[in-house]
Amino acid sequence: MQRLIPVLNNDHVPLHLISVINTLLTAAKEISHRLHQGSLAGTLGSTLDENIQGETQKKLDVVSNQLIKNMLLETNLVHAVASEEEDDVVMGNPDAKYLVAYDPLDGSSNIDINGSVGTIFSILEKPDHCAEGKELFLQTGDEQIAAGYILYGPSSLLVMTTGQGVRVFTLDHTVGEFLLTVDKLNIPADTQEFAVNMSNQRHWTKPMQQYIQDLLSGELGPRKKNFNMRWNAAMVSDVHRVLSRGGIFTYPADCKHPEKPCKLRLLYEANPMSFLVEQAGGRASTGYERIMSLQPTEIHQRVSVIMGSRNEVDTCLDYFKSIPCDRPDAPTA
Ligand code: F6P
Repeated sequence: MQRLIPVLNNDHVPLHLISVINTLLTAAKEISHRLHQGSLAGTLGSTLDENIQGETQKKLDVVSNQLIKNMLLETNLVHAVASEEEDDVVMGNPDAKYLVAYDPLDGSSNIDINGSVGTIFSILEKPDHCAEGKELFLQTGDEQIAAGYILYGPSSLLVMTTGQGVRVFTLDHTVGEFLLTVDKLNIPADTQEFAVNMSNQRHWTKPMQQYIQDLLSGELGPRKKNFNMRWNAAMVSDVHRVLSRGGIFTYPADCKHPEKPCKLRLLYEANPMSFLVEQAGGRASTGYERIMSLQPTEIHQRVSVIMGSRNEVDTCLDYFKSIPCDRPDAPTA
């Protein structure tokens, strides 16, 4: 089985970018090790702090963030990093060209129940125009040059793209290397499986209410087929299932907290996942716009997400086209 570096070399990925990706993986191996140790490593449970999003930080969120940030900045190949766990952008080498946005441990509420979690990353280049601090990262998803995630599940997997399709590598603990296990991942265009947090149903807008209602009606409803539901509450593992066997994953905008209509973050969750999903032949939308075309305005910006099997996402988007509603996530002028 092929190791990661020769595969990326074969794809003509620049050497410095390979080094940045490899550094992320060195951090990921350490995170994987600590997760496997669980209570034995004394890193389960929460800190007393909250992150910029107002969410309780798990000890492993903090540890993972430090590991990734320090290792990336030590390479001298990274100009700046933006992390879910950092209020602001952290600057690295002023002469380096890579920018890395990441969620160090996505789905971290799963840590204490021994569930799957993951690290998500998105790599950009320093823009040509003069930009500083957070402005550096305010680029559309289409500007990403690499993106992926490491899923820490029963096995640790790297799923990544550099814009030449999606590959899966599995961590072989015996040699400490990620080895190629799927050369070209394709999402089936059709599906009978959906992933959504149903407890938010009453807060959704009309198009999403009607779409999910029609899925639940199964073969007796307008879709004339039954649908199954799965929800792991970790985007990495829910999207991994969709990438592996098809499905539709959504965390739509809702009216639960008018000041915070969306949950998932654009730069280090929605954009990298959309890049993977599109590279695997799927679709990713807010309901109204293609996610990777959005112009970000904030590094911790949140966005409505509907992604997965092409035909199913298109069907869902038809509801948004035909059912009028006030958008809780309406873009501000
Ligand atoms: O990043 C936030 C996150 O943990 C995602 O990984 C996941 O999809 C979602 O939140 C789970 O949300 P909820 O707690 O509403 O199920």
